[in-house]
Amino acid sequence: HLLAAAASVLALSSGAAFASCEDGETLVKFAHVTNSDKHPKGIAAQLFADRVNEEMNGKACVEVYPNSTLYDDDKVLEAMLLGDVQMAAPSLSKFETFTKKLRLFDLPFVFNDIASVDRYQASEDGQALLTSMTRKGLLGLAYWHSGMKQMSASKPLLLPEDAKGLKFRIQPSDVLQAQFEALGANPQKMAFSEVYGALQTGVVDGQENTWSNIYGQKFFEVQDGITETNHGVLDYMVVVSNDWWEGLPEDVRTGLKTIMDEVTAERNAAVTQVEEESKQAIIATGAEVRELTPEQRDAWVEAMKPVWEKFSGEIGQDVIDSAVTYNV
Ligand code: LMR
Repeated sequence: HLLAAAASVLALSSGAAFASCEDGETLVKFAHVTNSDKHPKGIAAQLFADRVNEEMNGKACVEVYPNSTLYDDDKVLEAMLLGDVQMAAPSLSKFETFTKKLRLFDLPFVFNDIASVDRYQASEDGQALLTSMTRKGLLGLAYWHSGMKQMSASKPLLLPEDAKGLKFRIQPSDVLQAQFEALGANPQKMAFSEVYGALQTGVVDGQENTWSNIYGQKFFEVQDGITETNHGVLDYMVVVSNDWWEGLPEDVRTGLKTIMDEVTAERNAAVTQVEEESKQAIIATGAEVRELTPEQRDAWVEAMKPVWEKFSGEIGQDVIDSAVTYNV
């Protein structure tokens, strides 16, 4: 009891919001790594929990653990297979040990914007990826959007040469590693919760992420401005353990899926605005946000494009060719 009380005090002080779960309800622990109020994922996870706790009261109960308070993304999928957590929404760059098929999303300059990503994910090919990990125990319920990635470092980045020799934090993805190696930079895989400290102490010089993450984690405080590169996408897959999901009473599973689908549609439609608010909030702090001229942007495309060739065999050239057709 003491331990449970201590855990709930800790969870409350870190912003986790719990409904009190009753005996007999299906408990759904949802662990993620961002904040819960100004972030596309945090807002969506909380809305999902609020709706389940109200509309499925007596049947199911969701506890959200934001800000890496329960697990970092590198631990959460293992924990899910062990039954210690039931839902998570890691970025598509964090499934490397389960599938290489999601590597498509990490290739630089494939999708022009989130609308293109959305169209691809809604296609037959995109939907098929949701069930591509079931043999390894994971089932995707939905894609949640965040946004396009921007780049920053301890010095201004305007041309690819500016990144040369710098150390960049990356998510655990070999494609992202190759992307920074193509620039002559040194990528380092690192958990999200450690990035601010690593930038502050100079363990790494730079990073890439969405406006909402750069704002939410305050990376702009410890960087020399942000360059608006929109060079890649950061999106999420909401996942569950396939066994757990299939073992749920049918009405619980259907209820959770219906609410998930509605929350997904509502929050994905609002994501561009949430990202824009973070961008404006960064600018309002006085931090420098640099835009690229078309020539400068072409130079980044040129420098990073070799990454496609490196992974096209594995991802499938046909898959890449099809994906780019969703840019209209
Ligand atoms: C990251 O590690 O940078 C992101 O995947 C964090 C997140 O969940 O947005």
